[in-house]
Amino acid sequence: MSQNFRFVVLLVSSVSLALSFSFSQTKKTPANAEGHQWWQDAVFYEVYPRSFADSNGDGIGDLKGIESKLDYLSQLGVDAIWITPCYPSPQVDFGYDVSDYENIDPMYGTLADFDHLVEAAKKHHIRIIMDFVINHTSDRHPWFLDSKSSRSSAHRDWYIWRDGKADGQPPNNWISGFGGSAWKFDPTTGQYYYHYFATAQPDLNWRNPAVEKAMFDVTRFWYKHGVSGFRLDAVDLLFEDPKLRDNPILPGKDEMGDPNMLNKYNDKLPENHDVLRRLRGVADESDAVLVGETYTDSAAELKEYYGAHNDEIQLPMDFMFCTVDKLSAPAFRKQIALAESTGGWPVYVIGNHDMARSYVRYGDGKHNDQIAKLMAAMYLTLRGTPVMYYGEEIGMENNDPQRKEDVRDPMGVTGWPKYKGRDGERTPMQWDGSANAGFTTGTPWLPVPASAKTHNVATESNDPNSILQFYRQLLLLHHQNQALVDGDYVALNQDDPNVLAYLRRYEDQAVLVVLNMSAATQHMSFNLSGEGFSFAKAKTLLTTSAPARSGRLDQIALEPFAVYIAQVSR
Ligand code: GLC
Repeated sequence: MSQNFRFVVLLVSSVSLALSFSFSQTKKTPANAEGHQWWQDAVFYEVYPRSFADSNGDGIGDLKGIESKLDYLSQLGVDAIWITPCYPSPQVDFGYDVSDYENIDPMYGTLADFDHLVEAAKKHHIRIIMDFVINHTSDRHPWFLDSKSSRSSAHRDWYIWRDGKADGQPPNNWISGFGGSAWKFDPTTGQYYYHYFATAQPDLNWRNPAVEKAMFDVTRFWYKHGVSGFRLDAVDLLFEDPKLRDNPILPGKDEMGDPNMLNKYNDKLPENHDVLRRLRGVADESDAVLVGETYTDSAAELKEYYGAHNDEIQLPMDFMFCTVDKLSAPAFRKQIALAESTGGWPVYVIGNHDMARSYVRYGDGKHNDQIAKLMAAMYLTLRGTPVMYYGEEIGMENNDPQRKEDVRDPMGVTGWPKYKGRDGERTPMQWDGSANAGFTTGTPWLPVPASAKTHNVATESNDPNSILQFYRQLLLLHHQNQALVDGDYVALNQDDPNVLAYLRRYEDQAVLVVLNMSAATQHMSFNLSGEGFSFAKAKTLLTTSAPARSGRLDQIALEPFAVYIAQVSR
């Protein structure tokens, strides 16, 4: 065998974890040679504030609750928290209907509580990111109240108002993401207003410079309060075709029972990018990051969000990755290649408050815990910034409503029974095995699932093989291993239908990641001659199977859904 040609051998059989580092290490990133920005090395963690931790027993989480969990988050290895909207809101869409952008909803606390949280988080080396609901406001926002009051009101043109058709029908055929027409008739002024989401969420008119100024000032307000950036909500949808042309209808119906439609004239219009460039200019004054809720259909569309000169969204989320809805090595390989092909810094997400939890989407019902570790091992070792969703690290599952009268999410109300809405993935964080999972002393706003008894922070902290401990170990590696911080992504064994394998290569070091995405034991070998690495020097970093034998290795046998991560060198 030539010097450059090596096979790896791993005989992997039992289920204990192999750790080659200690827990006493801190999560701080080593000096990074690549001159990364802070958000490239950060692990983001999405907190749904209603459901994270309730400090006052009203059954709804709050800012003081979040603050009380900073130790937990910092020990986990989180660098930035994205808090979904906590501004004053009628809560029709649980905060995504904002009635005042420059305050905190009393149910979550006060602006002073927010400032306190930012300061406390800073001490934990954690940054706070706000959710910027940029496309629409609440219908109770003073801007909209004024807008709807008369056709000549000061804010009339801050929203999209149009006459109906001659027969009184809505101005065009656009469908709301929440079901039904995207237009609502308002009798006071005899015109329709446009709402992509619920009727209580009228779309702002971004063609009006006064809207841009007011909204940009909102970001300045929060930068002054110490936030490190924003997640831009529904950012694809800022602009509408000025002629309001009908969208093409596609065959079939969607989950809400509406005709399928190509949103050609109200989604991802080119004008979006002009606003984003200017918004980025404001963010750059504060070294802030913009994270995008960007639902793209191709690498080209995703690439556009970074900006022609990397001057738009630093972290556009790649939801095409989430379209892979079952474990499949070829499908994930393809999506990773797609993200890499944009030339931008990838953002990996496997779950959020709008989609069923990754634990149930990928779980096979038998090996769910193991599969949760496998998914974590993938998205936390890829080149890019991961955005975790609260509870993912303990294997929280969906707890969907069983009866229509229990549904809280407006989408579930319209979509029932075909679509049960998003309540199931928004249930209270499971802190311990007590009645309400330690989330509240009151009655939680959504019920906790029975699995909270076993899948909770307290129990899993005491179990070395738990999903939580696996996340902790992965996050340590993610921060500390130079190849995982800075290394290139190199796909390996690209024809393997069952095993996703890749190198993260940095100078003369590399990390090998091997993920068995099948329910059978898989045998494999790697030819790294092209990469110039020697597996004779492979050292196990983390595995869900038995520690690999040290020394020279000839082949790998990996149990169903097993993870193997090793350091290799030249
Ligand atoms: C985004 C949010 C979602 C919300 C919608 C309307 O998609 O993630 O939860 O319902 O925007 O604001």
